[in-house]
Amino acid sequence: MVVDSITAPSNAPANAPEDLVAWVAGVAELTQPDRIQWCDGSEAERDRLYAEMVDAGMLVALNPELRPGSYLARSAASDVARVEGRTYICSEREEDAGPTNNWAEPAAMKRTLASLFAGSMRGRTMYVIPFSMGPLGSELSRIGVEISDSPYVVVNMRMTTRMGTPALDAIAAGAVWVPAVHSMGYPLVDADGEPRPDVAWPCNEVKYITHFPETHEIWSFGSGYGGNALLGKKCYALRIASVLAREEGWLAEHMLILRITGPDGRVFHLTAAFPSACGKTNLAMLRPTIPGWKVETIGDDIAWMRPGADGRLYAINPEYGFFGVAPGTSEQTNPTCLHALAHDTIFTNVALTDDGDVWWEGLTPEPPAHLIDWEGLDWTPGCGRPASHPNGRFTVQAEQAESIAAEWEDPTGVPIDVILFGGRRAHNVPLISESYNWSHGVFVGATVSSEQTAAAEGLVGALRRDPFAMLPFCGYNMADYWGHWLHMGEVLGDAAPRIFQVNWFRKDESGRWLWPGFGENSRAIEWALRRVAGELGAVDAISGRIPASGDLNTEGIDISEADLAALFALDPEAWSAEADLTEEYFAQFGAKVPEALKQELWNLRERIAAVQDAAE
Ligand code: OXD
Ligand code: MN
Repeated sequence: MVVDSITAPSNAPANAPEDLVAWVAGVAELTQPDRIQWCDGSEAERDRLYAEMVDAGMLVALNPELRPGSYLARSAASDVARVEGRTYICSEREEDAGPTNNWAEPAAMKRTLASLFAGSMRGRTMYVIPFSMGPLGSELSRIGVEISDSPYVVVNMRMTTRMGTPALDAIAAGAVWVPAVHSMGYPLVDADGEPRPDVAWPCNEVKYITHFPETHEIWSFGSGYGGNALLGKKCYALRIASVLAREEGWLAEHMLILRITGPDGRVFHLTAAFPSACGKTNLAMLRPTIPGWKVETIGDDIAWMRPGADGRLYAINPEYGFFGVAPGTSEQTNPTCLHALAHDTIFTNVALTDDGDVWWEGLTPEPPAHLIDWEGLDWTPGCGRPASHPNGRFTVQAEQAESIAAEWEDPTGVPIDVILFGGRRAHNVPLISESYNWSHGVFVGATVSSEQTAAAEGLVGALRRDPFAMLPFCGYNMADYWGHWLHMGEVLGDAAPRIFQVNWFRKDESGRWLWPGFGENSRAIEWALRRVAGELGAVDAISGRIPASGDLNTEGIDISEADLAALFALDPEAWSAEADLTEEYFAQFGAKVPEALKQELWNLRERIAAVQDAAE
């Protein structure tokens, strides 16, 4: 956005370079805040902001005896989640955004944004938030600067990114930075120029979450929530970073990262991509049930991966904290996560107990007798409303998880042995299967899907494709992204990680889960790691290579032979129907679908036909 004259005071730190100061002043000129605050990331700054937000009614301080250092925010009912319908990739050419992204012409979008941002911070403080995605000093890390008029964004960015003076120092030392501008779109001056009071959760009915892949910029208007407003996460670390990664020869992925140590002390690293509602946070904090194995967390949501000097693929977690879904988290489902939330946590849109603690659906088998719900209303069991919003969140620093690996901030990253792709599939997809090679793995990633479970999503049971779990997060044409993955396979050659597909959600005809899930998922992972270690053979099957009879470790779990067989059953007719759906799905990407993926579809059909022929 071009602003000719710079009149707003900037009070920039002495080492802030001229281009940064000019950009800040330009945004101030446009948005007209009352004050500019350059954030240093200190505890004193955080505590001052917490106190101001509590005074203003934007945060509730939780009982310090029960939940020390923790706060609750309640958002506006219209601002509770990422808004994919309002998220744009503004590339010069529409085909570079591709059929899975909303596209807008960059100059037109900038005109729209200029009018929305004009005066949008009047009466407010404009915060300048320098941040690093990834450990400072790592060659895999990247710097950004978010401007926001939301103090909630500042305190959340402090937990989810490495925010403040060290990031500014990196810019002063010459680091390239991505500019990211955010406004809640609720100036404290109304349309007639009259002052108006603030509200607990300022936002605007009009929302735009926009990305400019050619100029590497982010502009977000109208929402204060999560990925719409904490611009380091989905906007930078996935949408813009996926563009940077393609330009520079690396991968920016929606993947958790685990460090796994086997009984013999051998260490493996694994990344995994899962669409939402597939238990990704639970897997990121997995407690293995098989003796002798240790699983530690490196990241819960995003992996940046780049070939290292030895040719292997090295991953860092670009984030500094977790911004996860609270409902469903319990001592049974994810004790590690629950314990991490014991202190110094920001909760958003969960319920408040009478003694000043938080509660959400699934936390305890019985709800408390009375709560204040996420909308601030009295709540009693049986009142017919959930007490917390299903997308209610926690924000917490990663180091609070007892499962965090000592190596999680290693600037060189960790070498990846295995990549998992998951989905929520009642049918067809086996518990685990290994791709035949890299391009088959890319095909598996490109066709990841979940069966829709809610009528609101469309036809119940229909497949919702979520390629690489990147559907809402890829900053360019998805088919070009597949091409980039294929290219990275060529670069990595024999040093490439092995790719597996997993499915914890298979059901029998009566709708009963076939697999116990949670900690028992370590059994499927053990099989993958033992394959990588060269200890186990496998059986060639339609979906890929599956465990030979007896190779999946089921010792100590109660699973019948019939259920085990059903977990790996591959019906050629059903797979043939699925191959037809894949062909239809690829068609929307037209000529951009890489030849290697068409070949993989053909290979799949061949494997199906071979099974059908053998049965005749
Ligand atoms: C997230 C998401 O919040 O993927 O991580 O939606
Ligand atoms: Mn995510």
